[in-house]
Amino acid sequence: MKQKGLLYSGKAKSVYRTDTKGQLIVEFRDDITAFDGGKKDQLRNKGSYNAEASAFIFQYLEKNGVKTHFVEMLDPRRMLVRELSMIPLEVIVRNVAAGSIVRNYPFKEGTKLNPPVIVIDYKDDSRHDPMLNDDLIVALKLATLKELAAIKKAALKINALLVKLMAAQGITLVDFKIEFGRAGKTICLGDEISMDSMRLWDKKTKESLDKDVYRFDKGDVMATYNRVVKRITKTAAQKKVPAGTGGKPKAKPMTAKKPKVAAKKPVKKSVAKKR
Ligand SMILES: Nc1ncnc2c1ncn2[C@@H]1O[C@H](COP(=O)(O)OP(=O)(O)O)[C@@H](O)[C@H]1O
Ligand SMILES: [Mg+2]
Repeated sequence: MKQKGLLYSGKAKSVYRTDTKGQLIVEFRDDITAFDGGKKDQLRNKGSYNAEASAFIFQYLEKNGVKTHFVEMLDPRRMLVRELSMIPLEVIVRNVAAGSIVRNYPFKEGTKLNPPVIVIDYKDDSRHDPMLNDDLIVALKLATLKELAAIKKAALKINALLVKLMAAQGITLVDFKIEFGRAGKTICLGDEISMDSMRLWDKKTKESLDKDVYRFDKGDVMATYNRVVKRITKTAAQKKVPAGTGGKPKAKPMTAKKPKVAAKKPVKKSVAKKR
């Protein structure tokens, strides 16, 4: 597997072509941003913590019947994935009111949302990711109603699986954001599921275990990310998490050599964004 030219460089990850058709490399960088890009930093090891969490979660979801783009880890920060035609939607699933839903609507922070609330935003940094509804999604030709139904069904299934996974570790899955793409006619989960894209609260202490630690200067961000990754993988290995996860995932040994990067100009530039 050879890494080829840079296809896209986003706020936290870079996507490279490979010498295999239909496969890309997603590199998780140490960049972290918040508040529409208003806050930006580089935090050592952040990329590998998020990559490890993502890889673990993708494998857990796959084992439980969710189609994801995950192929294998090439090294601690580079994930080999199936190339998807990404749908520019940010699908957010909320189990507890927190963050923007509390700022924009009369919800009290911490209110349980049962059934979970799905919110879909238009992934467009220049427009600050405005919220969509089904009619807008169809009118903008972002997805068909059938695809939208498949996306929502998958989002709820992923939510149920993640709630279970986190609960086994004493963590509340408050909310999370996912992105889907098309592999032919199939809708497939892409991008990442990490401490950047989930809101996690410790069930006992209620402390934040995610990017809110960075957003609101709540403590040592990387110490938190590191602890979360350890907690997720350790519990799975020792306790055998429910829903058939069956222990630690068989990620490929992370022994790959440094890639020869033939970086081309990215097709899109990194733009400020909220997440
Ligand atoms: N399997 C995939 N195929 C193609 N593109 C993908 C895939 N998974 C994720 N992406 C895209 O790669 C980019 C990852 O970089 P990121 O830093 O998250 O970018 P952004 O700032 O646009 O969110 C995202 O734009 C995401 O939509
Ligand atoms: Mg992103």
